[in-house]
Amino acid sequence: MQTSLQAQLVLGVVGAGAMGRGIAQIAAQAGVRVLLFDVAPDAAAQARTAVLAQLKRMQDKGKLTEAAVAAAGAALEPAQELAQFAACDIVIEAIVEKLDVKRALLASLEAIVRDDCVLATNTSSLSVTAIAAQCAHPHRVAGFHFFNPVPLMKVVEVIAGALTDDASLASLTGFAERIGHRPVRASDTPGFIVNHAGRGYLTEALRIAQENVAAFPQIDEVLRDAAGFKLGPFELLDLTGLDVSHPVMESIYEQYYQEPRYRPSIITARRQSAGLLGRKSGRGFYRYDADATPAVP
Ligand code: NAI
Repeated sequence: MQTSLQAQLVLGVVGAGAMGRGIAQIAAQAGVRVLLFDVAPDAAAQARTAVLAQLKRMQDKGKLTEAAVAAAGAALEPAQELAQFAACDIVIEAIVEKLDVKRALLASLEAIVRDDCVLATNTSSLSVTAIAAQCAHPHRVAGFHFFNPVPLMKVVEVIAGALTDDASLASLTGFAERIGHRPVRASDTPGFIVNHAGRGYLTEALRIAQENVAAFPQIDEVLRDAAGFKLGPFELLDLTGLDVSHPVMESIYEQYYQEPRYRPSIITARRQSAGLLGRKSGRGFYRYDADATPAVP
């Protein structure tokens, strides 16, 4: 009984970028039916192709069976329009980090989904309460903050907005466990847990660079290899992308009433303007468009 009920779970993912496709991948691998929608034409189909290529690489390495790859591929379906989300039990949005755009999306979703569908936001830095504020049913809106890359980072913050009810939080907690992620509850404060601590890591490293204490690769090397972080701060900024990371810094700084610890850096502002976003643009603090990887000064 339990198994057949679980098999019927339908997840909607809105936004087929780095995060949305990762969430879609792990859910599909767990046997959840996933509908993936993106406002950009073909983005959801391309994301599915990329996920399948990733799963195939895992199969080639002997980490997945051919049957598991086929099952995940069958479970992951690009949606042509949001109206298809009427079937969803949970919808996770992983679209652009802008309050007005996320609010507009939730308003559209409320007109489509069932009353018992949980609406989750993967926001890194916005207030879950503010995102839910204009919803007719804010009790079913919660934060569900995954980390990049989603398939490898097996922890997820579950965030209660001011009006989120326990049933919605329980649904997300259960869902996280089903897809093999550890849910960690946090309240709705700027940056939750990871970006509260993590922004300090990045802004302090940027200050070290700005004061010419050391160059980017050396700062990364020491913080990674001696201090034990998985990625150095500039490697992490390149992975996330400055188009995502710099606005998050600005948002957290403002939300903490301009707390000096979180002050954003002109280094990231300037580099974002120049298009040196990181891996996604081929060039960031390191180069990804050539075989050599010197830091761009
Ligand atoms: P991304 O830029 O890779 O992907 C965003 C996708 O959303 C794009 O494909 C875009 O076409 C689509 N989109 C934009 N507006 C839309 C709309 N109204 N309806 C449907 N699709 C729309 O962004 P990424 O990095 O995946 O981030 C997405 C969200 O996840 C943001 O809220 C971000 O703050 C959060 N996040 C990002 C992390 C990261 O390391 N990149 C980590 C954790 C959370």
